[in-house]
Amino acid sequence: MTQNSAVVAQMRQLIQLLAQHNHAYYVMDQPTIEDSEYDQLFHQLKALEQQHSDLIQPDSPINKVGGKPLSKFENITHAVPMLSLGNVFNQEDLFAFARRIEERLPNQKIEYDVELKFDGLAISLWYENGVLVRGVTRGDGETGEDITQNVKTIRNLPKVLSSEKGAIPELLEVRGEVLMPKSGFEKLNAENEAKGEKTFANPRNAAAGSLRQLDPNIAASRPLAFYAYGIAQCVPHHGQTTMSASLDWLTQFGFAVGERHFVCESIQDVQKAYEQINEERPDLTVEIDGMVIKVNDLNQQQKLGFLSREPRWATAYKFPAVAALTTVENIDWQVGRTGTLTPVARLNPVAVGGVTVSNVTLHNIGEIHRLDVRVGDTVSVYRSGDVIPKVEKVWPEFRPVDTVEVHLPESCPVCSSPVVMPEGEALARCSGGLYCAAQRIEAIRHFVSRKAMDIEGLGDRWAESLLHLDLLKDVADIYHLHEHREKLLTIEKMGEKSVQNLIDSIENSKKTSFASFIFALGIRGVGETTARMLANTFQSLEALRAADLEALKKTPDVGDITAEWIIDFFQAPHNLEVVDRLIAAGIHWDAPVAPTRQPLNGESWVVTGTLSSMGRDEATQLLQTLGARVSGSVSSKTKCVVAGEKAGSKLEKAEKLGIPVLNEEQFIALMKEHGQIEG
Ligand code: IVH
Repeated sequence: MTQNSAVVAQMRQLIQLLAQHNHAYYVMDQPTIEDSEYDQLFHQLKALEQQHSDLIQPDSPINKVGGKPLSKFENITHAVPMLSLGNVFNQEDLFAFARRIEERLPNQKIEYDVELKFDGLAISLWYENGVLVRGVTRGDGETGEDITQNVKTIRNLPKVLSSEKGAIPELLEVRGEVLMPKSGFEKLNAENEAKGEKTFANPRNAAAGSLRQLDPNIAASRPLAFYAYGIAQCVPHHGQTTMSASLDWLTQFGFAVGERHFVCESIQDVQKAYEQINEERPDLTVEIDGMVIKVNDLNQQQKLGFLSREPRWATAYKFPAVAALTTVENIDWQVGRTGTLTPVARLNPVAVGGVTVSNVTLHNIGEIHRLDVRVGDTVSVYRSGDVIPKVEKVWPEFRPVDTVEVHLPESCPVCSSPVVMPEGEALARCSGGLYCAAQRIEAIRHFVSRKAMDIEGLGDRWAESLLHLDLLKDVADIYHLHEHREKLLTIEKMGEKSVQNLIDSIENSKKTSFASFIFALGIRGVGETTARMLANTFQSLEALRAADLEALKKTPDVGDITAEWIIDFFQAPHNLEVVDRLIAAGIHWDAPVAPTRQPLNGESWVVTGTLSSMGRDEATQLLQTLGARVSGSVSSKTKCVVAGEKAGSKLEKAEKLGIPVLNEEQFIALMKEHGQIEG
């Protein structure tokens, strides 16, 4: 092979690898390698191309962005292409970036705008005369997908612009990133896990998966957020002269920008800002994978222009990947509240980015097979975004000779009931139901949690000891704990006062609401909202117990699978016995004021701001009882908005669209009129 053909062969191999990973990342939302590994491959190719510019392959991705859009949404060509950013990985690269700028702008003072590099999905938003008309994904940078419907469900994004300070532009195209904040991501995964549904590997995938839903209701149920980082077009011009001022200018319309951004007077200060943010990264509400450094002056940006598809005036300064090598000491199977079996790798403790990691979830048996991980293996562990530690890969070269493959256990490690894994499902479950102690403790923790029966202290402080003392075989035993005062006093740190407090809060919990009670039962798939819908629809426990599949499926928020789980729950004799014992113990709720008619039937209402006499949840429930649908966003279809204190953009929008607005007093009067509130 000549030297040239060896170089070409190497280029071809890199191009093919990059194309595969690009497809997995951009189209399938299932990255197959770490970003840092992708960057390494990319740079290898870039370096080869720099050395052998005569051999550059026509399909090289170096001058292109992203991947091909999926075909299911309409394709839209961007009026202004959505370009890419170059990368720097260390101080030396950063200073070289600054030197290149200084060489092009000699004797000029250069300030840098330093922003968070959001790890989400880039989108472009069009506003015509202040109204959001279109939202488009980046796609391949030239053409993206029309995801307007989904974008309109993003809560922190202004659908109509209003500003006290200045005029609304005729045309405004805002660029930014859609993300799922860390807290929302963790909640969504916990909910999905409880429902036995697929969990997402990281917030980026969760955001991408949500935006790609054809049904906007699904996107609406996901905690997405939009952060603006630039203006592609503004007619008439916004009049700002710097990047940082144009971001501030955007905030007046209600756009969120990164929770940190700096203007630095020198590249040394940029380095300091980068180090500071790298340290503060765990405290941020969103996932970031670095910083973006931009020349602050817009005029200077224009003079610098672009080199191929990247601006000369900006670069991404990525954080180093935090990974470490360690060995797998064991692989245990944990049993969750709904009986899901999750494999957990017990590691020889290792510091990853300043945090000691000794346990890491392997999610399911499929992931074990994918990684081919065995006890005794050496693995690299990284922290994705800094929240959840994960096994990156197994290092086969370090595998001891005597390792054995890991299999799904046939019986539950906690109660020995058979483990089942229906065809086509990723998750295996213990079939022991409430008999399984693992499911029991979680069932109890859930039962006493705040939004369920709200028994303070029991879940986190005492549940485990109570189980050990054999005082709690199921949740109904909670209401008999007062018969065992002496035994309670033997629990470490449980004095007379704690016993009395516990007994009092158990007693107080007896008066509840039907919805909280249904939620407390921990029926698979029945979260807080579903429980409320079931309570509104069936009104009594007898009716809910007797409901057939068809009636359940008709309930808002109850899907086909959940309907079956509800039926299963009320068919299991053990569950019925527990429910009967709970009611016999004195759990009760006010009988709903059965509305003879539903005066707000089919109307769409929105509740916004803070109400002084009740929570938004309660107001929502009152409206739902009267037949209204309560939505999270105002649209032309909204019938009426209930606005409490500090109501923000939703109120503004309602006013703009001429939708009737009730203040708290008027709302309460209406509820009294319909017999929902006494008085
Ligand atoms: S500015 C000309 N600012 O990084 C390009 N991009 O490779 C201007 N990104 O997918 C981009 N945070 O979505 C910019 N604060 C930020 C950003 C940011 C994340 C993403 C962007 C794109 C990628 C660029």
